[in-house]
Amino acid sequence: MKKKLVLILLAVFPFVSSANEPKKYFPDPDTTIQRRLEEWQDFKFGLLMHWGTYSQWNIVESWSICPEDLSWATGARKKDYGNDYNDYRKSYENLKTTFNPVKFDPGKWADCAKAAGMKYVIFTTKHHDGFCMWDTKLTDYKVTDAACPFSANPHSNIAQEVFSAFRERGFWTGAYFSKPDWHSDFYWWKKFPPVDRNANYSIAKYPEQWQKFVNYTHNQLLELTGGDYGKIDILWLDGGWVRKKTNEEVEETLTEVYEGSRWARNPQSQDIDMPSLVKKVRAKQNDLIVVDRDVPGPYQNYLTPEQQIPDSILPYPWETCMTMANSWSYVATDTYKTSDKLIETLVDVVSKGGNLLLNIGPSPEGEYAPEAYARLADIGKWMNVNGEAIYGTRPFVNFKEGDRIRYTKSKDGKTRFVYLFDEPTKNITLKNITVTKTARVKLLGSATTCKFTATSEGVSITIPTSAIANCKNVWVLRIDEF
Ligand code: GLC
Repeated sequence: MKKKLVLILLAVFPFVSSANEPKKYFPDPDTTIQRRLEEWQDFKFGLLMHWGTYSQWNIVESWSICPEDLSWATGARKKDYGNDYNDYRKSYENLKTTFNPVKFDPGKWADCAKAAGMKYVIFTTKHHDGFCMWDTKLTDYKVTDAACPFSANPHSNIAQEVFSAFRERGFWTGAYFSKPDWHSDFYWWKKFPPVDRNANYSIAKYPEQWQKFVNYTHNQLLELTGGDYGKIDILWLDGGWVRKKTNEEVEETLTEVYEGSRWARNPQSQDIDMPSLVKKVRAKQNDLIVVDRDVPGPYQNYLTPEQQIPDSILPYPWETCMTMANSWSYVATDTYKTSDKLIETLVDVVSKGGNLLLNIGPSPEGEYAPEAYARLADIGKWMNVNGEAIYGTRPFVNFKEGDRIRYTKSKDGKTRFVYLFDEPTKNITLKNITVTKTARVKLLGSATTCKFTATSEGVSITIPTSAIANCKNVWVLRIDEF
């Protein structure tokens, strides 16, 4: 009974509970992957983009065609198309025939992301709706199909263009790929109506249909990683409910509740044969980081808390993915987080040993909202001064002091960074650290060293007022021990 209650609570608040629970991490035994993860952990800051035909409607990505009564998805559905699900879905799929992002210029995005200090990009090659943003040979539900106006554009192979533009500017590239595919007949079989987010037929009864889905998924991923799209560094697999389940897990799923209603009505094991998939894609790219999100096991090389920051340092590689505005996909009226908030978020994540993957949803024309460019520029200005306190740092055991101060250290442990979220006064006292007499203390962005003394409370530091006035957003002290 107790177990049931916990499961129900976890399912009702899945995003609230997940980041702070102790998660199981299964390190990849392959030393090449371990080395790549070390490198990746030094980057700290990446860009996520959610882009598809849905951006034309200012709605949530994909979810409005999911036949679950989810307030945040059906709201979008009801807005313009009444209550007829079938009509709605037809119109949604028709968005392919109007998608024409003539302003698409991934070089511009990559320049701005680079100036902001981002080091890697993850791009939605295919979201749950199944629309492919690359020239797949396996379906015509894709941007390069003749029925999509953008197919006539020389840059219509969008994912390839994005990956090349970012790679040319030194970024690592990652493919977001949804395992569930709500357009594929092998997942939502037209023989039956779709029921919820899951495959809509019995896999035990129709194993050959499921095998077609497994093949389709493997072959699409081989297209993306096989060479035509260049070196892919990260495979970011979304839709964690598509996974192999034991009988016990199937039983547990039956008790899950979401928004007050059962969402996993089809709790069967949806096994896409990850071991063989990973073997095949790594035969093409042997150092590919694989992130089978939310599926505990060896194919989740790092963990991905969503829209939240864990409370403390996590003992494995992780990345918070978070929207720069409210929605993952483009919504013209969306509200963007302030630059202060975004920089504090980055620092908070880094102080706990994670990376921040910040999402921007491009518009249907192929542009970012002006606010997105402005935020990237502000973050870039801050990074130019303070980047040394971000890249390659490692968490310091006392990573925070109250809510508004954070700490990290350099890999060799000789340098500590102190991040002050509020503009400091000339004299501040830090309680979390001790500093030896021969240390050197500086505010980043200023050449002057700061005087300091040990007091009974901690270390008292005097920062030149002119140095304080030079900085904004978050002030960073660098303490070097010799
Ligand atoms: C949420 C959304 C999904 C999105 C993902 C990104 O799970 O439901 O649409 O792609 O977040 O992390």
